[in-house]
Amino acid sequence: MTDTLDGEYRTGQIKLHDAAGFEGMRKAGRLGAECLDMLAPYVVPGVLTEKLDDLAREFILDHGALPACLGYRGYTKTVCISPNHIVCHGIPGERVLREGDIVNIDVTVIVDGWHGDTSRMYGVGAVAPRAKRLVDVTYEALQRGLDAVKPGARTGDIGHAIQTYVESMRCSVVRDFCGHGLGRVFHDAPNILHFGQKGTGELLKPGMFFTIEPMVNLGKHPVKLLADGWTAVTRDKSLSAQCEHSCGVTETGIEVFTLSPTGQFKPPITVA
Ligand code: MF3
Ligand code: CO
Ligand code: CO
Repeated sequence: MTDTLDGEYRTGQIKLHDAAGFEGMRKAGRLGAECLDMLAPYVVPGVLTEKLDDLAREFILDHGALPACLGYRGYTKTVCISPNHIVCHGIPGERVLREGDIVNIDVTVIVDGWHGDTSRMYGVGAVAPRAKRLVDVTYEALQRGLDAVKPGARTGDIGHAIQTYVESMRCSVVRDFCGHGLGRVFHDAPNILHFGQKGTGELLKPGMFFTIEPMVNLGKHPVKLLADGWTAVTRDKSLSAQCEHSCGVTETGIEVFTLSPTGQFKPPITVA
């Protein structure tokens, strides 16, 4: 049975959205991307991670939007900032970014009730060649995941495309965190695993909205959670990278909602 909720239709528990939903996600996704664009010039050696969080929060509020992470399950910041061996959910604070760091900044904005969730990698000054290579592999992994999205494909096709590529590059895919449905809800069905088998998982249908956000490690995939209850790090202390887009399944393929309007989704990285 299909129930109708204000332009939202569900098959099982996965919502299918109409044109108004796409329009809402376009606005939210664009603002999330613009927030990460805005931060780029501030991601330099010596910057306090807390300062980047303040800039993001002011930007979001100035644009009439809300920071989705602030107060989410007790999280007290606007963005997550995850340098080096931090896999995800690093908490902005007194940490200062240093020359050679690679760092993920993850933002989620709410615009007119719709969630735009996106993250990207920045290099702080000049970085080691292997760090740059990891970032390149991570962006290519996300792209291969996005390329697998079309009606009739399955969520496992996304994971398979990402995993086979990442492992062919002698890196590993984190298992403990996944992409997720989103829309008016921040974290919704379906889960989008970044590893898996072709032809398995949920069938993709026009109107589904979800993120793809692979975390890729230079070493092995296991992670551990720090005592703060949020910060996830690689168990072997190897470098980790992540990038994230929010997207929708269209009649013919995919629409990516969180592209940078000025083409800055992949910030240039200088190699030492
Ligand atoms: N933006 C993250 C994601 O990609 C979620 C962060 S939740 C927070 O799903 F509370 F840590 F901010
Ligand atoms: Co997400
Ligand atoms: Co995110």
